[in-house]
Amino acid sequence: MRVMEKEDLPRIAEWFSSPEVFGEYNTLRQMSKTEAEKMFESPLELKPFIIEKKDGSKIGFVSHFYVLHPAARQLEIGYILVPSERGKGYCTEAVNVMVDYLFLSKESRRIQAQTDLRNVASQKVLEKVGFKKEGTLRKNFFVRGEWRDAYLYSILREEWKEPRILTRTEKK
Ligand SMILES: CC(C)(COP(=O)(O)OP(=O)(O)OC[C@H]1O[C@@H](n2cnc3c(N)ncnc32)[C@H](O)[C@@H]1OP(=O)(O)O)[C@@H](O)C(=O)NCCC(=O)NCCS
Repeated sequence: MRVMEKEDLPRIAEWFSSPEVFGEYNTLRQMSKTEAEKMFESPLELKPFIIEKKDGSKIGFVSHFYVLHPAARQLEIGYILVPSERGKGYCTEAVNVMVDYLFLSKESRRIQAQTDLRNVASQKVLEKVGFKKEGTLRKNFFVRGEWRDAYLYSILREEWKEPRILTRTEKK
């Protein structure tokens, strides 16, 4: 995983605008490159991390952002994988890396995520990483012409305990 660069914005805009990549369980945005630039420059949006395979192909991203204001230190994550690369464990690995990175670099006590009730793959990713289901957010997303409920998940720093993929110190 690596931090998103300006050169990735056309791809990000393409993913956000694609019903196949983004639209089944997320609000489809039809985002232009200029809008993508604005969104990622806003103070409440932090840069997404691009998931890149060893052959250099870019297969998705994990983003993180502050729910209210950075001072509140309430973090939320979101993620997307291109359809051809789903079901291979990449997202579970990427979310593990993101959780390690956030707890190692920020003072936050919790990281949260929201997922459509029908999005079983996303719920499995979160549960495998150690997130716990907190409850249901009613009529939370407007997707494909209807309001959908979402589960709110979170992981607390004390539940994470130790990094799983990253390390506290540089490996010798
Ligand atoms: C959700 C998503 C990121 C999962 O990524 P992924 O790389 O396929 O996830 P993983 O391979 O790490 O693990 C997914 C788990 O869900 C299972 N799964 C995958 N697709 C599934 C489906 N349609 N129904 C039920 N389970 C499914 C996998 O078998 C795996 O479980 P297992 O380890 O017990 O076998 C990916 O499907 C995606 O990008 N979806 C569209 C965007 C989206 O919904 N983003 C999340 C918004 S909250």
